[in-house]
Amino acid sequence: MNQDEKKRLAAEAALPYIEDGMALGVGTGSTVDFFIAALAEHAPRLRAVASSSNASTEKLQALRIEVSDLNSTGDLDLYVDGADEATRHLHLIKGGGGALTREKVLAGAARRFICIVDESKLVGVLGEFPLPIEVIPLARSYVARQIVKAGGQPIWREGVVTDNGNHIIDVHNLTIVDPPQLEATLNQIPGIVTVGLFAQRGADVLLVSGDDGLTVIG
Ligand code: 5RP
Repeated sequence: MNQDEKKRLAAEAALPYIEDGMALGVGTGSTVDFFIAALAEHAPRLRAVASSSNASTEKLQALRIEVSDLNSTGDLDLYVDGADEATRHLHLIKGGGGALTREKVLAGAARRFICIVDESKLVGVLGEFPLPIEVIPLARSYVARQIVKAGGQPIWREGVVTDNGNHIIDVHNLTIVDPPQLEATLNQIPGIVTVGLFAQRGADVLLVSGDDGLTVIG
């Protein structure tokens, strides 16, 4: 199985979690794109669909799936999204695609978060994938200095502006032994909008695809 086939397997495994009348949140990324592609026939059963990025909104609308503002949907019944790294404890690094802030809001608003990944994303300890952090533009250098003091190596994702008009710093050289603690610590730094650690609100279910098929964790 090639990687796209694995992504499709994980994405389509999330479809049975959809129930009639649900408000569904849709994440962002190449794995989620397979989920979006399969969603059109299920959309009429849904009460509402909310999106985590302009990119996913465009893809949903291209399939004539109406996208609602989270302010009007109320809490979501289900959120489906990918990840850059995931552990068996259901902690995640997200934000490789730069959509981490809206993703974190939708995950927080969701009763259930199904994370869809292929086996290359499953790790023992988070941190080999650089941790994305969204910052307001004027705070970029200040936040970077704070990150250095905390032992990380911040690299500005130059030229990238998020859907919220902010910048992204990718933090290298982290071995994240206590993800909820690091998330809490980084959240205290002024100027940080969102840390791409999803640990305090991790996934509820991890669907991991591999050569041997699908593994359900959680
Ligand atoms: C975007 C994300 C994505 O979920 C993450 O980058 C995984 O993407 P892909 O499925 O393309 O590997 O967090 O901000």
